[in-house]
Amino acid sequence: MSQQLLTSLGLSELNSGTYLGQGEWSNTQDAGQIHANNPSRNETIASVWASSEADYETLITRAQAAAKIWRTTPAPQRGEAIRLCGEALRKHKDALGTLVSLEMGKIKAEGDGEVQEMIDIADFAVGQSRMLYGLTMHSERPGHRMYEQWHPLGLVGIISAFNFPVAVWAWNSFIAAVCGNISIWKPSPKTPLTAIASMKVCNEALAKAGFPDLFFLFNDAGDRLAQKFVDDHRVALVSFTGSTRVGRMVGERVAKRMGRSLLELGGNNAIIVDETADLKLAIPAIVFGAVGTAGQRCTTTRRLFVHRSRHDEVVDKLVAAYKQVETKIGDPTDPATLMGPLTDAASVERFLTAIDSAKSAGGKLLTGGSVLERPGNFVTPAIITGVSNSCDAVQTETFAPILYVIPFDSLDEAIEMQNAVPQGLSSAIFTLNLKHAEQFLCAAGSDCGIANVNIGTSGAEIGGAFGGEKETGGGRESGSDAWKAYMRRQTNTINYSDALPLAQGIKFEF
Ligand code: UN1
Repeated sequence: MSQQLLTSLGLSELNSGTYLGQGEWSNTQDAGQIHANNPSRNETIASVWASSEADYETLITRAQAAAKIWRTTPAPQRGEAIRLCGEALRKHKDALGTLVSLEMGKIKAEGDGEVQEMIDIADFAVGQSRMLYGLTMHSERPGHRMYEQWHPLGLVGIISAFNFPVAVWAWNSFIAAVCGNISIWKPSPKTPLTAIASMKVCNEALAKAGFPDLFFLFNDAGDRLAQKFVDDHRVALVSFTGSTRVGRMVGERVAKRMGRSLLELGGNNAIIVDETADLKLAIPAIVFGAVGTAGQRCTTTRRLFVHRSRHDEVVDKLVAAYKQVETKIGDPTDPATLMGPLTDAASVERFLTAIDSAKSAGGKLLTGGSVLERPGNFVTPAIITGVSNSCDAVQTETFAPILYVIPFDSLDEAIEMQNAVPQGLSSAIFTLNLKHAEQFLCAAGSDCGIANVNIGTSGAEIGGAFGGEKETGGGRESGSDAWKAYMRRQTNTINYSDALPLAQGIKFEF
């Protein structure tokens, strides 16, 4: 199946990992190889030639030339280019969704969902291309007009993570493109194939319609080129998705050269279930949030605060649901599977270490927590009770399916615990009490970038701004007015009078 799949997406056993522009993929074969691993079997799916420094220089030079043309192309025409990308992705949704599933390990429904997320953001970007609105202000001076407009930044760098190997690229590159920018992508070394396939699908659609190159790609065997990229003053904005540890480095280095960064880092997301919650909604939301993508979303539900009066009932229902999920762990491309593998052996180790650490802090493992005896990086999802919110395991984002359940007595206490972590990405409350919902959403409530009522922490729609506070990095991507991050604002004052009055009433006569 996989050979046919690769061919249908323009891939072979050994692929160039560098798109240089002008329809050209690099021939470099001396910068190392990246082997795309199938985490369900720990077998190589196909390999990719990594990019060289010379490749990097070529693509930056070509991207700069493309940016000069693109910045003055009318924005609605830029939208038309992205509309074609969305159409091309629609045609390849099934194949690309399967490749995401095969290479990343998320189940097929989620792989398809990820491609759908690319299509959705393409549609959104098309509309946005006619809505790059600036404000008009009233000047304090007679005969003056004042307004603001938004211009492209130039080159936008995108460094994406393995867990959303293509959707996050689309969030950034499609919005960046309608804003008049050219983007350069360094995907995760764990998922180079989906990156190459997505580039091919989109670039072919653009070339066929005579559009210039909007998207460039390089793959780095180590981190040398990535470091150069982050420090490169020609790259106006670096959008980074990944760990807080690396994101902090990226943010500091980009700030040092006065560039812009957009950081989408770790989460330690919680759901609060109060005494009135409808468990018909809460239980599936918790299970999808904690177990979906094998706990490898930045929006994964990692902590659960349950009102003491509902605690045992909720825990019993969850354990029963987890037992069901356990029977459906396996090959993520099989439509019956609910949970695929972790990305690599190191993730399995971190999963086991976190559980040990929770146990030594008094935690009780109610279900899961084991490694499956079969090829691939399969674990059984874990539920742990008896830990405090402040213990190391609970405070740390372990990219694996571990759910810590903690009882509470008052909503104030639950909100305080939910906010008492370094990260601030996503949060949710299940309640039928209007006062509780509003208390959770008010300024003294959740401190996260995303706060939901009666839906879970993961699976955000593209229409909202996506991102979070504190160590999540503060960036916002995707919908709402996140487009502004990809543009520079210019304030313009035009004097159409015959006098030159100064602002603030200042007289300067000579
Ligand atoms: C991520 O895990 O980096 O809200 C992104 C969600 C997805 C995006 C997650 N739409 O879970």
